[in-house]
Amino acid sequence: MTTWAPGDRVVALLEGGGYAEQVVARAGQVLPVPDGVDLVDAAALPEAVCTAWTNLVDTGRLRSGETVLVQGGSGGVGSIAVQLAAALGAQVVATAGGPDRVARCVALGADVGIDHREQDVVAAVRDATGGRGADVVLDVLGGGGLRDNVRALAPGGRLVVIGLQRGRRGELDLEAVMAKHAWVTGTLLRPRSADEKAALVATVCEQVWPMVADGRVRPVVHARVPFADAPVAHELLESGDAFGKVLLVP
Ligand SMILES: NC(=O)c1ccc[n+]([C@@H]2O[C@H](COP(=O)([O-])OP(=O)(O)OC[C@H]3O[C@@H](n4cnc5c(N)ncnc54)[C@H](OP(=O)(O)O)[C@@H]3O)[C@@H](O)[C@H]2O)c1
Repeated sequence: MTTWAPGDRVVALLEGGGYAEQVVARAGQVLPVPDGVDLVDAAALPEAVCTAWTNLVDTGRLRSGETVLVQGGSGGVGSIAVQLAAALGAQVVATAGGPDRVARCVALGADVGIDHREQDVVAAVRDATGGRGADVVLDVLGGGGLRDNVRALAPGGRLVVIGLQRGRRGELDLEAVMAKHAWVTGTLLRPRSADEKAALVATVCEQVWPMVADGRVRPVVHARVPFADAPVAHELLESGDAFGKVLLVP
């Protein structure tokens, strides 16, 4: 849907510039607020859903019945990825820091939650998969997670890096990649062309919005922070206490 009328309730995948009361968005990057979702909460969806979808499905080629490891299931993107992968019929293994955050990942639909502060993530993934490993790893750790993420892959597995929380460089064990016939890749959303973003938004509207409307995928909002308190929102994110998204409300 790319024709809009004044008064339509919409959200958008922005180019940036979202810290504003008004913003210009390309029509192809605008989505209707899904049925049954609060207008403000809906702001938590476009970037997280587009990121989760394109990396799990387009790049990761995740299929029903496969296992996915979501590194950072407690994050803004990860909390959506857990729900989306479960809705797609995958077995979902998710990491988070601390037992409460792990429990919340399970409540979102993860079959297995791993506390990365206390547990050996690779061993736990192997336990969860009968020793096979994950078909897809959706990773926010980057360089510092590379070694374990490759170890956690199943034969033919796909590691898709989307974040660099533990650095941009790491050592890749190419023998392990070769032995597993694994793929190691990564993607960015922001530099994609307007046409690519419009195509992704259209796919998300068709494939994921019905899952949002029927409750299989819900926005995960940790807090709404008034615009004037934007520094508080940043402190919240930096504290590591946020689960899901922090929304700035004009
Ligand atoms: N490639 C793209 O197009 C794209 C698009 C959007 C976002 N991103 C990137 O994706 C990443 C996640 O974004 P977000 O909005 O979800 O961020 P977020 O809400 O801040 O979440 C960060 C996640 O990383 C986890 N984490 C942090 N340090 C960790 C560690 N040492 N070990 C294990 N887990 C750790 C956190 O888990 P705990 O707090 O539970 O430990 C949390 O789940 C960011 O790096 C962001 O820049 C990329």
